[in-house]
Amino acid sequence: APATAETVYLTAGRMLDPASGRITEAPALLIEEGKILKTGTRASLAAPEGATVIDLPGETLLPGLIDMHVHLTGDPTKGGGYSFLAYPGERFVIWAVNNAEKTLMAGFTTVRNTGSDGYEILAVRDAVNEGEIPGPRIFAAGPPVGIVGGHCSDNNYLPPEEEATGAGVATGPWEMRAKVRQNIKYGVDFIKTCSTGGVFSKGTLLGAAQGTLEELEAIVDEAHMRGLKVAVHAHGTVGIKNAIRAGADTIEHASYLDDEAINLAKRHGAYLSMDIYNTEYTLSEGEKNGVMEESLDKERQVGGVQRESFRKAVKAGAKMVFGTDAAIYPHGDNARQFSRMVQFGMTPIQAIRAATTTAAEALGKSGELGCVAAGCVADIIAISGDPLADVSALETVNFVMKDGVTYKKD
Ligand code: ARG
Repeated sequence: APATAETVYLTAGRMLDPASGRITEAPALLIEEGKILKTGTRASLAAPEGATVIDLPGETLLPGLIDMHVHLTGDPTKGGGYSFLAYPGERFVIWAVNNAEKTLMAGFTTVRNTGSDGYEILAVRDAVNEGEIPGPRIFAAGPPVGIVGGHCSDNNYLPPEEEATGAGVATGPWEMRAKVRQNIKYGVDFIKTCSTGGVFSKGTLLGAAQGTLEELEAIVDEAHMRGLKVAVHAHGTVGIKNAIRAGADTIEHASYLDDEAINLAKRHGAYLSMDIYNTEYTLSEGEKNGVMEESLDKERQVGGVQRESFRKAVKAGAKMVFGTDAAIYPHGDNARQFSRMVQFGMTPIQAIRAATTTAAEALGKSGELGCVAAGCVADIIAISGDPLADVSALETVNFVMKDGVTYKKD
């Protein structure tokens, strides 16, 4: 945490504790060395001498939000298709620095960066952690590990003589393990792979499985052995089931869910991270932004199905986290997904838990992140509206504290 963290006495109109769903009126929090030391009410907890007092009358406090699927190095307005191949890695860093700030100011104090071309994101993560630039706490995957020609691991249909190959491309269980080890060697926080094709890659099919079960098991086993979690992109049903059976910790997109897939996710304890907002952005702005016709076509196929799968998964009680795939839509608009999650079957508190309590659990950071109790990291936001009455109130965040440091106070 940046060294500027001081002792803060924070009060507001109300506080929502997502874990219990309870509202505290006139809450007071004592924050020291970047952590919540004590919680109470203005009546029960007094301001210690010398503390910086921050009072947010009429505001509702919540834990800082967590987005489990972003790509800070990506920007939807920089051209679609493979136009990103025209930019050097340094340029991605510049975008990521800007996007990190936008994300933090929108109330997201933690993100999982679920894949980047190279290891540039690790420098962004470290610069945030050392207080050099404002941004959310970043858990970074680095280059996705996966098959030759696969969605997310590789880039297709380029001139063969260019020999353009993704950094995480591998064939067979041992090569997959080697790529996992290489990512760990450079300092990633978790592993990303893709077990089906995707929307934004050339020549991949949403329904087609990528990688054999043996390859996926090798990736998961190698990562788990080293204490890292695995996020698996999967749209099609077969690939979703392969990923869950291989032991994936989170399933990204999870678009074509049948009952067996939902039951498998529940039985294995896999979290579903379903990005049900971005489809609207792509279908309205994608063409103008230069998204390939192939991708627009796949998006038209998958958007509605994914939203119905979301509804089924909520009803069945699967574990679900908030993941938006920011980069497909502009960073900073992350909270727009909350209202869609409610529209497609969640209660507001369920949607809020997906971005706090449950996300923290999926990161292995329960009791540390996504919470507002004593002992939690002091990541706190404030909003004006009542998120339990209208969850879209989270789209306007007036106050952002991370690690006890105030980054925004409107
Ligand atoms: N990165 C994902 C892919 O290319 C994005 C999918 C977005 N669409 C959606 N309906 N979730 O496949």
